[in-house]
Amino acid sequence: MTTTHSAGIRRVGIVGCGLMGSGIAEVCARAGLETLVYEVGPEAVTAGRSRIDSSLGRAVQRGKIAEEARAEALDRLTFTTDLGDFADRDLAIEAAPEREDLKRNILMALDKAMTQPDAIIASNTSSIPVVKLATATSRPTMVIGMHFFNPVPTLKLVELIPSVLTGEATRQRIHAFAAEVLGRHVIRSQDRAGFIVNALLIPYITAAIRMYEAGFASVEDIDAGMVMGCAHPMGPLALADHIGLDTTLAIAESLYQEYREPLHAPPPLLARMVEAGHIGRKSGRGFHQY
Ligand code: CAA
Repeated sequence: MTTTHSAGIRRVGIVGCGLMGSGIAEVCARAGLETLVYEVGPEAVTAGRSRIDSSLGRAVQRGKIAEEARAEALDRLTFTTDLGDFADRDLAIEAAPEREDLKRNILMALDKAMTQPDAIIASNTSSIPVVKLATATSRPTMVIGMHFFNPVPTLKLVELIPSVLTGEATRQRIHAFAAEVLGRHVIRSQDRAGFIVNALLIPYITAAIRMYEAGFASVEDIDAGMVMGCAHPMGPLALADHIGLDTTLAIAESLYQEYREPLHAPPPLLARMVEAGHIGRKSGRGFHQY
């Protein structure tokens, strides 16, 4: 069964099947959409597929979905290593690593590949101003920021970021799609680095890193302070590990490039940890060990 709705989006394609792409692909497939997932090579496809598989397994275990729904979602997913296969997609959601040059190249390739006249290209960028990506395409009116939160199946928010070039029809279609089909709560942001959530969250996380770097308190005490004292589900350093220190650094750099304020300057320790390959949960080590 496939879904039709006011946004008229039935076939979706997700570029990237990492932490975010796999979650976005999972929620699209669970929502009844024919979902094509691109990764760079066969190994990345295998890793991405197993990420989705185990998340769907967790959803069944937790009683969120029935075993039947899991099997149906898996049936709706196909994988490719060729962006040319996106020709018939109504919507592509780019979820590649947070690098402007990489994202621009992907959007350029999608623009060439996607032949449906109304096809929309959305980017899950966490912080890069959307207009910088839209100008890589010949259809900037049909490019929009659509930002999900990790873990995507659990956190029901989508930040919608129309650029100054995004058409009103595109904004309305993606809003309807996110709300009606994916069941997300939609918030709308101006096209400024970091948008709403990361413009607030990343300075908080980098303040915690500076606090630790200055010898002010231990990792455990900083995290316990915010979990036990403010009822946050995770402390700021555990959250940085969860997001990925590479992504956290990339977002801090985008914010600093936009605002040039000391508040946004990435702490040296964050840069050193990324250079060392200690990028958080996904590498087994960040501020905590996994
Ligand atoms: N599908 C549906 N639901 C699922 C699921 C799946 N695949 N996997 C887990 N869940 C559900 C669980 O059933 C559970 O729901 P209930 O509370 O209703 O039982 C819920 O998700 C939490 O799952 P767990 O019990 O396994 O995990 P937990 O309680 O230890 O919470 C956490 C883990 C959700 C990560 C929580 O610690 C949390 O919310 N942390 C903060 C995460 C956060 O702030 N994320 C945003 C980062 S910023 C970002 O993503 C944007 C960016 O650009 C950087």
